[in-house]
Amino acid sequence: MKVVLINGSRNEKGCTFTALCEISQTLNAHGIDTELFFTGLDPVNGNIDQIVDTVGEAMKEADGLIVGSPVYYASPSGEVLAFLDRLFMKYGRHMKHKPAAAVVSARRAGTTASFDVLNKYFTINEMPVVSSRYWNMVHGYTPDDVRQDEEGLLIMRVLADNMAWLLKCIEAGKAAGIDVPAQRERVVTNFIKR
Ligand SMILES: Cc1cc2nc3c(=O)[nH]c(=O)nc-3n(C[C@H](O)[C@H](O)[C@H](O)COP(=O)(O)O)c2cc1C
Repeated sequence: MKVVLINGSRNEKGCTFTALCEISQTLNAHGIDTELFFTGLDPVNGNIDQIVDTVGEAMKEADGLIVGSPVYYASPSGEVLAFLDRLFMKYGRHMKHKPAAAVVSARRAGTTASFDVLNKYFTINEMPVVSSRYWNMVHGYTPDDVRQDEEGLLIMRVLADNMAWLLKCIEAGKAAGIDVPAQRERVVTNFIKR
């Protein structure tokens, strides 16, 4: 079993990365493989198709997804939003029914607003959202700050515990003959009378 982790920060080894590492180590301790992708500035410097395809192809094989973002002006980073818009449009069907979670990192505020935005990608795409003991956030301006955020790191570990548990439940369910629900025919309406 494998979980893909996305670092949607401009900082390759910053606060978001530090939070994702805590999750990754805990998943590994549960016997689950992880693959971390750093999207960086690619989504906004002309390389969006390349990074979306790289992660999208990885998600075809992966069993779960964790998206990490710093908080910029009380929202997820513009880079991660551009990336997720394209990833879900192009590869959404390959991610359906795969457990997912968002984590955010902020110096101080805007965490829950950012967390809400990220979770909406999962819930429009039939992805079970994995939760923790609090909303999934760490606080810091530097990785060292995050390492001192003991509660934040515990939230990351509990999130990973719950992700590992759910992945194993899904695998046990499949072995017992419980597959994902059959897809219902799509109905698309708007609110404009013609
Ligand atoms: C453009 C920009 C906007 C930011 N806006 C916020 C904000 O609204 N609230 C906050 O608490 N921190 C804000 N920060 C700080 C980052 O969210 C915080 O340092 C985060 O942990 C950085 O994660 P990273 O090291 O993974 O990039 C902002 C940082 C930048 C560069």
